[in-house]
Amino acid sequence: MYAKITGTGSYLPNHRMDNFELSKLVDTSDEWIQSRTGIKARHIAEHDTVVSLSVRAAKEAICDAEIDPEEIDLIIVSSVSAEQVLPCTACEVQAAIGAVNAASFDLNAACTGFITAYQVAVAQMKAGLIQTALVIGAECLSNLIDWTDRGTCILFGDGAGATVITCENSDIEVPFVLHSDGTKRHVLSCSSGFGAGKSPYGESVFMDGREIYKFAVKKVPELIYEILERHGRSADEIDLFLLHQANKRIISSIAKHLHQDLSKFPMNLQENGNISSASIPVLLDDLNKQGKLKPGMKLIVAGFGAGLTWGGMYLEW
Ligand code: ACO
Repeated sequence: MYAKITGTGSYLPNHRMDNFELSKLVDTSDEWIQSRTGIKARHIAEHDTVVSLSVRAAKEAICDAEIDPEEIDLIIVSSVSAEQVLPCTACEVQAAIGAVNAASFDLNAACTGFITAYQVAVAQMKAGLIQTALVIGAECLSNLIDWTDRGTCILFGDGAGATVITCENSDIEVPFVLHSDGTKRHVLSCSSGFGAGKSPYGESVFMDGREIYKFAVKKVPELIYEILERHGRSADEIDLFLLHQANKRIISSIAKHLHQDLSKFPMNLQENGNISSASIPVLLDDLNKQGKLKPGMKLIVAGFGAGLTWGGMYLEW
């Protein structure tokens, strides 16, 4: 092991938009949304931004880790939906929490963003460059959604999750895996809104739902088997599988592929919708607060999304 999560935090905007409220905006129903996705509600930012959500989640994680912000060497924020390009969200967080010794940057790997940021932080630990990192996934996907498109607006929500990661040297090599396939970039796309006309993509989220579904149910089980094989473990030895919270049907199909009981796949998408790179750290924080993560528990954490990108890792709590 090179790292341990020593603190978690999260923040969801106050406005809980349930499926009934959504059905006043587009021609849909609670029954359709729940049966196709498992989602009952999502949180939508009215005044919050990716920066304000990140700062609130970060403060909680730092408090949970019981560290001084000055101990943080690196801040990485994963997001696809920040309201501002410059400065990066991580520098805003640094200033807000007083992490004066941290290097700070953002990255974008869509729904695999938190996993990617976590792996970058741990790689810096392995290289002996840092001791403590703050890794955040934060999204205001409501900024990118076409609220007249019932095929996409029912899926997404806003929120942020944060983790404090601390270097823990040991001889045990822990497998981290990242993949991408840029030839499928058109399957889930959105331009930034800047340089109108220069991007081949539209200004709100476009998604080929069926392609995403097929991709997720094929590649995520392959990814998990790859992690297990590299670590010499079987799926039965894993206590919990923490997957990107896109869709209950996708998660159920993955559980079936792995011959594992669905109870080993905790979900909070019912209340949060899909919050892209925030979904995994928010789930970690929910489970941590509920006392469901016990010391020594074996976890597989995996994300998948636009790019296409997918990745995961084995963690011990
Ligand atoms: N309410 C009611 N009807 C709807 C809605 C809606 N919100 N959206 C679509 N429909 C209708 C369609 O118009 C279509 O009607 P038609 O048969 O008269 O043409 C019918 O429902 C079926 O549409 P499909 O798109 O074929 O529905 P499908 O069963 O594939 O479900 C869904 C759509 C839920 C998006 C599914 O494809 C899916 O789960 N895909 C994965 C997408 C995903 O999770 N994306 C998250 C982002 S990517 C990520 O995080 C990895």
